[in-house]
Amino acid sequence: MDTWRQVFAINENKFPDDFLFGTATASYQVEGAWNTNGKGENIWDRYTHQYPDKILDKSNGDVACDSYNKLEEDVRLLKNMNVDFYRFSVSWSRILPKGFAYQVNADGIRYYNNLIDLLISNGITPMVTMFHWDTPQNLEYFGGFTNSLIVNWFEEYARILFDNFGDRVKFWITFNEPKQTCAEGYGIGTKAPGYKLFGIADYMCIHNVLKSHARVYHLYNNTYKETQQGKIGITNDAVWSEPKTQSVEDVEAAERGLLFTFGLYTDPIYHYNGDYPQVVKEFVSARSKLEGFSYSRLPKFTPEEITYIKGTYDFFGLNHYTTTLVNNVDPFPIGDPSQIKDARIRTSFSPSWPKTASSWFKVVPWGFTKVLKWIKNRYGDIDIYVTENGYSDHECLNDQERINYYKQYLSALLDAIYDHKVNVKGYAAWSFLDNFEWNDGYVNRFGLYHVNFSDPQRTRTPKASLYYFKNIIKNRKLIKL
Ligand code: NOJ
Repeated sequence: MDTWRQVFAINENKFPDDFLFGTATASYQVEGAWNTNGKGENIWDRYTHQYPDKILDKSNGDVACDSYNKLEEDVRLLKNMNVDFYRFSVSWSRILPKGFAYQVNADGIRYYNNLIDLLISNGITPMVTMFHWDTPQNLEYFGGFTNSLIVNWFEEYARILFDNFGDRVKFWITFNEPKQTCAEGYGIGTKAPGYKLFGIADYMCIHNVLKSHARVYHLYNNTYKETQQGKIGITNDAVWSEPKTQSVEDVEAAERGLLFTFGLYTDPIYHYNGDYPQVVKEFVSARSKLEGFSYSRLPKFTPEEITYIKGTYDFFGLNHYTTTLVNNVDPFPIGDPSQIKDARIRTSFSPSWPKTASSWFKVVPWGFTKVLKWIKNRYGDIDIYVTENGYSDHECLNDQERINYYKQYLSALLDAIYDHKVNVKGYAAWSFLDNFEWNDGYVNRFGLYHVNFSDPQRTRTPKASLYYFKNIIKNRKLIKL
């Protein structure tokens, strides 16, 4: 890794005065208490219990970091980090055990009220994600995000959140990484609910997620914003697409790849024309026709829907971790539909990119600058909050590689601010704690605090990176190692 350390010059500028530092988690990954005090089952409870083999260490989030019971301690640790904000998510089925608004779990309201109050009394701003992948299981029986009625179900859930927490929560994120819910949950089937309906259900899902997001944005804007004075947005994840060669075909394929994996989710909200990217519409439609469909597998928005969804943001929420090389491929033979076949791309990694513990993830700091520039070029000068960025290793307290990662990626972020005038307003390190890393269980760790998962107390211990991150917050610049 020494060569990697030397290749990049560190940006020594200061973070802007109003730049906010935070850290992030998600309900299923940290809370535990999966069936305590009235919480309903969600799709990750079901998936991990039913298919333990799909999780690397056959584990689940039943106890996770036990953050449900360790709220005071967690807030003390956050306070010790000196973060400006803490991004956490609300478990829909802890608030509404059946997903629907007819049955509200008072204990869920109590729990999040306590968390929010404790954060605020410690000077930490809550940033609240309404949905981080844990759909109530009961709603999945009705098709979950493939059922267009979820727009109403999500609106009713959001109304309860605004009514109960909106007086104190000033940052709302409707959805975290819809691509994972849709493409992995309903497409490839590697995440809950685990359906392999690629090229069809994944597109139905994103259609409904975008409509649900817009409905809740308008609900907030029309009914709550004036009194509650908060901001509302959505978080999407971008993997930067770098052309594998400089051939016209590969350069076009890289752009197309980004539009399929990112623009599909962001254009309808942020692009001045709204709607899905033109190239995505064309490629899915052409491929659908070849496959014998009389319509495109990508559902169409009506002109009214395009207008309704366009502009539904107060900021741009971005999760970013890595980059891939993309090359163009010839049309695939006709068979089962898939987004990859629609996009006609192949992705790979350069062997020179440093590895992490996660198979999908290599260290490529310059991709971060490129993705931030791309967002500004395509969507204009929007306030961007990086709602997640971080590094995975195996269990390790002296995590020098994580320190390196933060240093290089934050330097790339400063490059975007100073060299390209991208308006990045905040940054959340993923993650506050080692936690349940979905299919990678507790094997791959992202935390600034180590958590001992074999200890019933789930003891938290600061890692070297925690001290490094604290120093950045204190100095407002990247110190040299
Ligand atoms: C993004 C997801 O939002 C988060 O839940 C996950 O743990 C991290 N990526 C790392 O994979």
